[in-house]
Amino acid sequence: MSCRQPRGTTDITSTERDAGSGQAGLANGLSGVSQTRAAVILPWERHRSDPDGVAIDQTRAADARLSEAVGLTASIGLIVVHTAILPLRTRRPSTLLGEGQVADQAAALAEAHVTVVIVDTALSPVQQRNLERAWGCKVIDRTGLILDIFGERAATKEGTLQVELAHLEYQRSRLVRSWTHLERQRGGFGFLGGPGETQIEADRRLIGERLVKLRKELEQVRRTRGLHRSARKRVPFPVIALVGYTNAGKSTLFNALTGAEVVARDQLFATLDPTMRGLVLPSGRRVILSDTVGFISQLPHELVEAFRATLEEVSEADIILHVRDVAHPESQAQRTDVIRVLDDMVKDGTLDAEWPERTIEVLNKADLMGGVPQVSLRPGAVAVSAITGEGLDVLRAAIDERIARGMETADYDIPPEDGARLAWLYRHGEVVERHDADDGVHLRVRLLPADRARFERRSEVSEH
Ligand code: GTP
Repeated sequence: MSCRQPRGTTDITSTERDAGSGQAGLANGLSGVSQTRAAVILPWERHRSDPDGVAIDQTRAADARLSEAVGLTASIGLIVVHTAILPLRTRRPSTLLGEGQVADQAAALAEAHVTVVIVDTALSPVQQRNLERAWGCKVIDRTGLILDIFGERAATKEGTLQVELAHLEYQRSRLVRSWTHLERQRGGFGFLGGPGETQIEADRRLIGERLVKLRKELEQVRRTRGLHRSARKRVPFPVIALVGYTNAGKSTLFNALTGAEVVARDQLFATLDPTMRGLVLPSGRRVILSDTVGFISQLPHELVEAFRATLEEVSEADIILHVRDVAHPESQAQRTDVIRVLDDMVKDGTLDAEWPERTIEVLNKADLMGGVPQVSLRPGAVAVSAITGEGLDVLRAAIDERIARGMETADYDIPPEDGARLAWLYRHGEVVERHDADDGVHLRVRLLPADRARFERRSEVSEH
């Protein structure tokens, strides 16, 4: 595995950054560390089946899960020098892992000169502390790792606030562990707290105050979200949003479709910051392609809100491309996961219930299955390889067709002096009929519902 520098933070210590931003790296301070030798340990419970109840190949599934965790670890600049999959028979409250496993790993970690261990599951503060003692290195659990990544990549105001909120809550639950060395009796003259208040109590109180402030700010951002959305509605082209699991190939597909220079890093979550680019479809129609953050398997529940705040683009999209890695052993379970999150967004009103009608399932990485013809398709799905380009023409045509399907036909009489409105209809719609008469031009035109509403709102044109 190659060494990656953390983006933009190599020469800043975590303390400096925390003081400045008050969020990313707060719990772990990991992102500012470069050249750190890390281990990834996956505690693995054998009796898992995917959410559809289909038995899955456990060995392949564990390998895939480990490689996702290794990818996540590498994406914050740590060098992974040791990995292990440890079968879990019982969950020990003290260390999660069995005594023998802890001892074996202690030896392996020392030999590999590891200083940070990522344990790819949720650990209780006690388990984390005990493992740190036993191994003599920093131990980060899955929640801590993902928080670090979200903190680095969150771009929207709401996303940033959500991440900070999740981070502080996580940190508060671990205060006893991470700040033990700071615990001391304070004198009676500090600004923080009265006489006898311990450092931990003071810190806990400060975090509590910050949490209250953050929640208020979030509410404010949410109230104005509707305004942003209507501003976005003024974008004059249909918007196509890419969603899918991390590593499914969204960025690669985005680039292949838009012909842009490659920005796909082999880095998970490279796209937490939504990216947009224009694309011309075979019909000549212009659309905007929008990349979103990747899903991850078993997202810790306290991070679901933070993640969903990054999916706003999807609620505004005219077409959703659900990009899947068909070659992934848990491809089916990942599909179910994505659908569940989108359905949850329907329940809380951030997405309309008709989203499946404007969704195209894109089965990517067909090359790994022996080519597009080898991939079995359900209706409405398209197989492609973003790497070889196979199937992309079919996908472009499918997007065109899906947009056309959602269009409505309208008739307008445009007065002769109104060249601007005529031009607008030609630019945004498909003119299917035209009659020129002395009193103006009669047009029959196909338009997206949003464009039709916009046209009719702005102009008092008589409609037949
Ligand atoms: P996140 O940004 O983490 O959400 O990932 P992503 O879904 O944007 O994935 P990305 O485009 O970064 O691709 C992940 C890896 O899969 C990269 O190593 C790509 O080269 C590889 N990949 C993408 N598409 C294909 C494909 O069609 N075939 C093969 N073989 N590999 C692909």
